[in-house]
Amino acid sequence: MKQASLFIEEAENLSDSRRLARSGTFTDNMKLPLHRWFRYSAGFSSEWAVDVLKEYGERGKSVILDPFAGSGTTLLAAEQAGFKSYGFESHPFVYRAAHAKLFWHSDVKSFLNKTELLLSLASKSIEPLPDNNAPLLVKCYTRETLQRLFSLRTAYANLKKDGESECELLWLAITSIIRSCSFVGTAQWQYVLPNKRKLSAKDPFMAFKQKVLEMASDMRFAQNNGFTKDAEILQFDSRCENNSLKNTIDLVITSPPYPNNYDYADATRLEMTFWGEINGWGDLHNSVRQYIICSCSQHSAYEKLKLDDLLDDDVILPIRSELEATCRELETVRETKGGRKTYHTMIAAYFNDHARVFISLRKMCKKGSKLCYVVGDSAPYGVYVPAEQWLGQLAVASGFESFAFDKIRDRNIKWKNRKHRVPLHEGRLWIMG
Ligand SMILES: C[S@@+](CC[C@H](N)C(=O)[O-])C[C@H]1O[C@@H](n2cnc3c(N)ncnc32)[C@H](O)[C@@H]1O
Repeated sequence: MKQASLFIEEAENLSDSRRLARSGTFTDNMKLPLHRWFRYSAGFSSEWAVDVLKEYGERGKSVILDPFAGSGTTLLAAEQAGFKSYGFESHPFVYRAAHAKLFWHSDVKSFLNKTELLLSLASKSIEPLPDNNAPLLVKCYTRETLQRLFSLRTAYANLKKDGESECELLWLAITSIIRSCSFVGTAQWQYVLPNKRKLSAKDPFMAFKQKVLEMASDMRFAQNNGFTKDAEILQFDSRCENNSLKNTIDLVITSPPYPNNYDYADATRLEMTFWGEINGWGDLHNSVRQYIICSCSQHSAYEKLKLDDLLDDDVILPIRSELEATCRELETVRETKGGRKTYHTMIAAYFNDHARVFISLRKMCKKGSKLCYVVGDSAPYGVYVPAEQWLGQLAVASGFESFAFDKIRDRNIKWKNRKHRVPLHEGRLWIMG
């Protein structure tokens, strides 16, 4: 508990400019109680979210929404700062991780008792491995480690009662040790680097016990330090309308997928394979991508999207001519590239999807509300896409009053192949009204 409290103090002492500069990163959260339970590299900083809440919200009054809730950073920040909040997350696996984190208020003793029970079941259930394990698992684990991980999984399956909070916490504890027990490189942004070796891989039982102890300590910390139990996360697609939240939201704090070809489905491939939710890469579209914003070329290619259809859709009317020019250029450039990636339809679909999100947000947000979008631009095949400008225009077309952008940092290294030198940036898109 002392540890956790020191982390919060340390976080509170960070200078404002440093927090602002780090608003787009999850790294600092790995020191913070509750946030550190699940590493989500796509996440943003919780301290920064708390700052925004304090500056733009009214504690106990303002209602907060994060329509791209990810691992739940905004929701936990809202619980720490005393705000009612809602989150939408449509990636089923990420949703489950965020949902489990919100059970921090569960009874610590019964969580620890369930853990004991799970460990005793697991130590009895170590069985020989079947021969038909998914190739990815065989590539990432020694036989012995996989056997021990599977025994935790089997014990969990025997114990779980759907929806019981302690069981969701146990699921999260197992989920969050999957990478640290692998001997291959499990990088933050790529799912796995088979040619890299870690210096040491953890033993599953030890790693699981350590994780549970960390979680128990964080739960006590939150329970004793005034966190409110006032966040709700829904497995919901932000492109759809949500009538139950009509005209209720005062402040939106979020970071949507960027148009930068990051595949959110692939990011959880190892974990979903371990839990038996998918058999391999080919299953990712149907189990995840179809539910989320189109922000990678695998998504637009799989759906065989047609550029003309996307550009004909009136939801993108205010940006149609600029968007069309960019997408046509991408369509031409693609013919000169070996990979022939479908960035032209990915970009068109990305803004189509976002237009729908703004239409829905307009109905949920009160007049006079504020939206803070942490977002970055991109340059697939070196063709510049002014994301914040176009998102701002779509927001205004959906009925918000105005938008402004404040840049946080320059970035031009996200496209790892460095095939272009187009300067990029990241910042906060503020939408008002
Ligand atoms: C940049 S991440 C947000 C991370 C979050 N701020 C955090 O700290 O964990 C964007 C999230 O949006 C989710 N997402 C994408 N399309 C969505 C949609 N249509 N509805 C709801 N969530 C969506 C993705 O699965 C991803 O988790």
